Amino acid sequence: MFLDELRSSEYDPPSDDDFARTALRQIELAANHLRSGQIVAFPTETVYGLGADISHPQAIEKIFKIKGRPRNHPLIAHFSDLADLEYWASEIPSAAWSLAEYFWPGPLTLILPKSDRIPANVTGGQDTVGLRIPRHPVAQALLRALGTRRAIAAPSANRFGHLSPTLAIHVREEFHNEIGMILDGGSCEVGLESTIVSCIGETVTLLRPGGISVDAIENLLKQKILNNPLRHPVRAPGSLPAHYAPDTPLEICATSSALWARVRWFQQQGLRTAIVTHTPPPGAHQEQSDFILMPDNPVTYGKMLYATMRKLDRLGYDQLLIEAPPNKLDWLAITDRLQRASYHYLNKT
Ligand code: TXA
Ligand code: MG
Repeated sequence: MFLDELRSSEYDPPSDDDFARTALRQIELAANHLRSGQIVAFPTETVYGLGADISHPQAIEKIFKIKGRPRNHPLIAHFSDLADLEYWASEIPSAAWSLAEYFWPGPLTLILPKSDRIPANVTGGQDTVGLRIPRHPVAQALLRALGTRRAIAAPSANRFGHLSPTLAIHVREEFHNEIGMILDGGSCEVGLESTIVSCIGETVTLLRPGGISVDAIENLLKQKILNNPLRHPVRAPGSLPAHYAPDTPLEICATSSALWARVRWFQQQGLRTAIVTHTPPPGAHQEQSDFILMPDNPVTYGKMLYATMRKLDRLGYDQLLIEAPPNKLDWLAITDRLQRASYHYLNKT
């Protein structure tokens, strides 16, 4: 009834041009916020970031403060133009050039020796910097509106140690009214953070698996990359064993049958248990109402992972049980995040 009335009324729905104009006004406004030293949450293709113009020390300070993040954890500097890589980094080995040219804009962060245009408060006092050109159109438009040779320092827009946000509403849930402006760019396409690769010294080392697979990097470079952050001279504080965690205790079960055995055990204790699998449950468990069947491919699984954990958190379960992802290279980022998410609970006893 209401819709019929609306259709027959004078109501003139906004055109695509109207939407585009509104979006541009929002982006201009956000760029002004950044220029005046305020912080703005914005979408990237990986997760939402909490952004500050790197040249505003008090804005950088505010990011650490509202995230509850230790001051020595460096922030990634986002910029928009590959031609400026040499402006932000003081040394660029040929492998870094290859990676930047091929994967940017995209979900890859390169760790390189910083130039003196990167303030020390962004890098936690280190002489290296994490650099990334994001490909989300809103992130790109925001960086361009901010101006040439400006960069946005942005950690994921969540409280320290918590799940990264993949929707604008997640940012609001994390920070309520502490952030003046949140640009809404819909649901993040990748859903997991960028892959971090260090190109310091002679070697190329994976510091964090993420949106770009190790295979893709090795195929491009035609060499194996190192995957042992602990033995690497560069400190990547985000590689903490406990991170990216939901509030509900989470346990990973090695196989589907181990998972259902654990479900029975928890239920016998009278605990409300949510189950996340990627293999359909055996017949006897089909009636179980509290399971989520995730996609069995890593791209869509990764995109849904954080949003799924957030939803389950809200439902107030006592326990989350997750079937271990396949032991394959293209599931590495998902396995990494789940292991960190379950760390506290593994090590509680
Ligand atoms: O996808 C992403 O990377 C998102 C979006 C917003 O770009 N950002 C993100 O930022 O995940 P954050 O701060 O949540 O995680 C960045 C990680 C941290 O673990 C930090 O320690 C590491 O990057 N990092 C940054 N600069 C570094 C540096 N110079 N050396 C080693 N690790 C660095
Ligand atoms: Mg983070």
